[in-house]
Amino acid sequence: MPDEFRNFIGGQWVAARAKRTFESLNPARRDDVVGRFPRSDAEDLEAAVAAAGQAYPRWRATPPPLRGEIILRAALLMKERKEDLARVMTREMGKVLKEARGDVQEGIDMAEYVAGMGRRPFGEAVPSELPDKICFTWREPIGVVGLITPWNFPVAIPSWKLFPALMGGNAVVFKPAEDTPLCATRLVEVLVEAGLPPGVLNLVHGLGEEVGAALVSHPQVRAISFTGSSEVGREIATRCGQLLKRVSLELGGKNCIVVMDDADLELAVEGATWAAFGTSGQRCTAASRLIVHQKQLVDFTDLLRQRAETLKVGDGLRDEEVEMGPVINERQLRRVHSYTEVGVGEKAKLVTGGRVLDDEEHGRGFFYAPTIFTEVRPDMRIAQEEIFGPTTAIMPVGSLEQGLEYANSTAYGLSMSIYTRDVNRAFRAMRELEAGIVYINAPTIGAEIQLPFGGIKNTGNGHREAGTVALDEFTEWKSIFVDYSGRLQKAQIDTATAD
Ligand code: UN1
Repeated sequence: MPDEFRNFIGGQWVAARAKRTFESLNPARRDDVVGRFPRSDAEDLEAAVAAAGQAYPRWRATPPPLRGEIILRAALLMKERKEDLARVMTREMGKVLKEARGDVQEGIDMAEYVAGMGRRPFGEAVPSELPDKICFTWREPIGVVGLITPWNFPVAIPSWKLFPALMGGNAVVFKPAEDTPLCATRLVEVLVEAGLPPGVLNLVHGLGEEVGAALVSHPQVRAISFTGSSEVGREIATRCGQLLKRVSLELGGKNCIVVMDDADLELAVEGATWAAFGTSGQRCTAASRLIVHQKQLVDFTDLLRQRAETLKVGDGLRDEEVEMGPVINERQLRRVHSYTEVGVGEKAKLVTGGRVLDDEEHGRGFFYAPTIFTEVRPDMRIAQEEIFGPTTAIMPVGSLEQGLEYANSTAYGLSMSIYTRDVNRAFRAMRELEAGIVYINAPTIGAEIQLPFGGIKNTGNGHREAGTVALDEFTEWKSIFVDYSGRLQKAQIDTATAD
């Protein structure tokens, strides 16, 4: 029997009231059940929101430096448990161990970074237009906030949201992806052990359409932070719009690497291999388009094909040398393959891959061969739609202008990169690429938490996570005017002339 896990509500580990459960599977070996988790419904959600609402006033009144101490303790616990957390992640999500360690490390980085914000949630102090009057701002929490997180970065992405939300003084209801509930459970355990008071953080497992939808619609939940697909993001934004609820969305990407004729070819191929096939292409930042100058096209394609064909694909828990794991589940495996069929149908040229790996070593999991298309044009679906798998599309171009035009030809704008040795071209690309994140001579993946993370166009709705702006998503500004003149002073009227 697999282990059975629970929700965490009001400081207690509890089963779903209706006693329903779902299983989390190891995507590298589908017969390995990682655990059983509560399939919560609106009633469980109600209990979690009520617990958060009850805990909120005290947490709001807790001085931010003390909140920061708890987050710092969480960082230390995560460091101690880094290897265990990484192994749980590889088993539950499939990314190889090195990457799983990196994912946990990104969570640690975020916790350390945010912990220090307890002593610097700076506001502004500005002069008044009137005498004996001062003006200043401070940050306030929003209230009960709902966090809905994806499976592809099961520790890092919840960390981008949880630590700033808690530091901001909010009480949280956390609904993690149903594919990685154990990673979420381990992260919540860390925060509980670090000393978070009961009710401040509530974990509710379950399906998006059941408990996630209830969280988004709950009138007492004042803000939603969501990372996931554009389809679901659009639904959430619509619902939040009706309710006038604050919502921040981090959605899809169709990121690209532009490889110019003067690029260091080998460096570009290494970068493209990592960005296209790392995490089996299941990053919002993955490079699913490679825009390559005609002069480098033959060599680039050939070298990349060799790398793709020799990439070691397998179960990362069994072998540290594995470079690429499975995709997350059967549905995703089918989706990735359906895009191969779309590409072939559109008359793009399949260079390598394009098939499910079903030999003895891979057949028990959800493995897909690293896949490269070439002769891809911007109007093809494989050049426009996010695949979220190990599939990339080479698009030949003849100039920097055409490269930038192709780069900007999708609805998304998360992460883009250019390989060139020409500083003028590099700066033009920095300015012209329509993306929230730009890399020069580095791949599209690997953002660091001290800078804002997020995208433009259909990638989001204008918010950023992490970086110095990390608290913006989870706090309100209050503007305060203090008049110590002892008389009524009318702004804009008494000040019309200064004599
Ligand atoms: C994501 O793909 O959703 O920049 C997050 C990166 C990682 C985070 C990716 N630090 O690739």
